[in-house]
Amino acid sequence: MIPFHRPSIGEEEIAEVVDTLRSGWLSTGPKVKRFEQLFSAYVSARHAIAVSSGTAALHLALEAIGLARGDEVIIPTYTFTATGEAVVAFGARPVLADCRPDTLNIDATTVEPLVTPRTKAIVPVHIAGQACDMDPLLALAGQRGLPVVEDAAHAIPTTYKGRAIGSIGDLTAFSFYATKSITTGEGGMVTTEREDLADRIRRMSLHGLSADAWSRESEQGTRFYEVLDFGFKYNLTDVAAAIGIHQVPRADEMWRRRCEIAASYTKAFSGLDTCTPPREASYGTHAWHLYIVELHPPALGHGRDEVMRRLRARGIGTAVHFVPLHLHRAYRQAFGYEPGAFPVAEQIFARAISLPIYPSMTDADVADVIQAVRDTLEEIRR
Ligand SMILES: Cc1ncc(COP(=O)(O)O)c(C=O)c1O
Repeated sequence: MIPFHRPSIGEEEIAEVVDTLRSGWLSTGPKVKRFEQLFSAYVSARHAIAVSSGTAALHLALEAIGLARGDEVIIPTYTFTATGEAVVAFGARPVLADCRPDTLNIDATTVEPLVTPRTKAIVPVHIAGQACDMDPLLALAGQRGLPVVEDAAHAIPTTYKGRAIGSIGDLTAFSFYATKSITTGEGGMVTTEREDLADRIRRMSLHGLSADAWSRESEQGTRFYEVLDFGFKYNLTDVAAAIGIHQVPRADEMWRRRCEIAASYTKAFSGLDTCTPPREASYGTHAWHLYIVELHPPALGHGRDEVMRRLRARGIGTAVHFVPLHLHRAYRQAFGYEPGAFPVAEQIFARAISLPIYPSMTDADVADVIQAVRDTLEEIRR
């Protein structure tokens, strides 16, 4: 069986977690600080604030730009619900945009017609680990005076025109969920160049207190604190950061292996008339968090789910990314979205399957996946 995902946890991560457990300091402390330093250096961001999830990172980023009830935020419909949920948490409206058929990302042409006087931010999502075309988006945001909050849950490491995702928009939210390119089990990070936003996020991630728990209890820090705002409990634990400390230095090596797997898949599937491999934009490098194949109608005779079922029967785990937000009941009921509204995202959803892509896959695993996909697509078109 080749599962859809298996995290890559080494002996160093395990030893560091054990060390943390023995240290007597389990919550936010020195390991979180170290993880933040390593991560900010890795993505060349001035500030990095570690939090408990990618969703918390998005929530805090939107809080920092002052999102409020009645505001609108432009997001893609082709994403995970966390992107929209963070907007709805403020009583704001997620204004959905369709995606491009090639990169599966939003761009300035899909976003521009949606800007209204109530728009408060644009949230591009770097789907699968491929950057959105940021320059036109940043130009549009600049003209309209809108902050750009990037959902970079998939984008470690991703570059756009030579720059790492994490230092481009006003704020960038990363996820370290178990399936992500680097993981802490659950966890997230917000990066920003702006000190005022970093200060706000740090404070709001821990109850709106005037100082964080570590400095409160360290010898140098004061033991007194004041509640300056009504914040959240979104801090990361040292137990989780202990894993992250050893994932960051391995991130490039793990990425290189995912690139090799992606190259093998693309080479194998390029000649087939039954599917299209993911298309890479020339402006950046792809993190290959996900490898999303689009099936063509002859291979879809029995539907995409039947392809997945047959692959599972051959021992290959696959996944669907993503059910567009406007097709979910919660988004339809709350915001009146209807099926048919975003044809590109709907077509991709109907045709896409995500194949296993993670560093511990062997060459034999990759060859097995390729064979199983080829055979299944051939078999199903008959
Ligand atoms: C596009 C996107 N944004 C945000 C998130 C949320 O991340 P987390 O699970 O760490 O809260 C995910 C998680 O899978 C995601 O795929």
